[in-house]
Amino acid sequence: MKLNDLQTTTRWTLAGRAGKMNPSVIREILKVTERPGIISFAGGLPSPKTFPVSEFRFACEKVLRDDGPAALQYAASEGYGPLREMVAAMLPWNVDPARVLITTGSQQGLDLVAKVLIDTGSRILVETPTYLGALQAFTPMEPKVVSVASDAEGVDVDDLAAKAAATATSGAARFLYVLPNFQNPTGRTMTEARRAALSRRAAEIGLPLVEDNPYGDLWFDAPPPAPLTARDPEGCIYLGSFSKVLAPGLRLGFIVAPKAVHPKLLQAKQAADLHSPGFNQRMVAEVMKDGFLDRHVPTIRALYKSQRDAMLVALKREMQGLDVQWNTPDGGMFLWVRLPQGMTAIELLPKAVEKGVAFVPGAPFYAGEADPRCLRLSFVTATVEQIDTGIGALAAAIRAMGSQG
Ligand SMILES: Cc1ncc(COP(=O)(O)O)c(C=O)c1O
Repeated sequence: MKLNDLQTTTRWTLAGRAGKMNPSVIREILKVTERPGIISFAGGLPSPKTFPVSEFRFACEKVLRDDGPAALQYAASEGYGPLREMVAAMLPWNVDPARVLITTGSQQGLDLVAKVLIDTGSRILVETPTYLGALQAFTPMEPKVVSVASDAEGVDVDDLAAKAAATATSGAARFLYVLPNFQNPTGRTMTEARRAALSRRAAEIGLPLVEDNPYGDLWFDAPPPAPLTARDPEGCIYLGSFSKVLAPGLRLGFIVAPKAVHPKLLQAKQAADLHSPGFNQRMVAEVMKDGFLDRHVPTIRALYKSQRDAMLVALKREMQGLDVQWNTPDGGMFLWVRLPQGMTAIELLPKAVEKGVAFVPGAPFYAGEADPRCLRLSFVTATVEQIDTGIGALAAAIRAMGSQG
């Protein structure tokens, strides 16, 4: 070790919470799978074909021409007023724009929620499985993350009630983090009956809900049931995003929070980044002002639906004779697959990459005990031809692994 290294290692003492921060397992996997020639179903990226580049070029020019200095100045932490009003107007319940906080992606929303609601040792509840990025945002605050049993219709409400209650060693759970629409990673959607039951039970036991809904607009045949927040706005924090309906590079999302929490989220936001980029917010408001999303989002739905259909057809054809199960998501970007008994997705991945296809193993998405047979496939960034070839390669890898016993 050189003297310099020695001084560096001894001079810095990391905070305890830094030890809880881990590189996203998915990003690590993606590094391996982004080799040229690999068909990747692994990423969580929207299709770049859906990005409205020319609308943004026009909006960029207009914002700079009409409002340049203000767009480039520091701005209010709450967000750009007209954009907050548009967000309030597009949500399907009565939202006061004063309760809308524009965030730097909904990922920042998760980070702010963690800072404002979690103490060291607080219990928080999550679905089984859940969004890995939320676990990454929550864990540095050192909560006890408890996985609630979940099935194809969403969380099991009785298990939730049992796990929410205060225990001998800890107070009641701080919140349930829940993704009712086209969930990441499973693609599943919570049914109307389950939402009603969850909303009722959460109100009865006084459990707050954090509802994350970045995919809700990307439905294929029919819109999903109303958000949980619409049923009980004072009992829920709602997180939304412009990433999947416009573009993730804008880094814009929003939080709608109850009166009791909104001011603290705002103060946490001030500490985090003062405000989300005002220039981007003005461009988004400019792009959206004439009902653009009403014309644009249906084109994303149609594209993603055709890709989901292609993947379902390919799975049916290629997985014949293999004990592989998968679901049929009604929207969003992901499909959830379960491998035959005795096979694990982690072991399959290198063999699939050898055959030219990549996916994300499901295990990192579990806060508790993982189902090692599960994996996530994204159907939105590959072409229909690549989907055909890629699912064929995946089936070949599963067959080869099965025959090795
Ligand atoms: C469930 C979920 N929540 C939040 C995010 C973060 O989205 P963004 O920060 O781009 O709004 C993602 C991104 O993939 C996601 O899948």
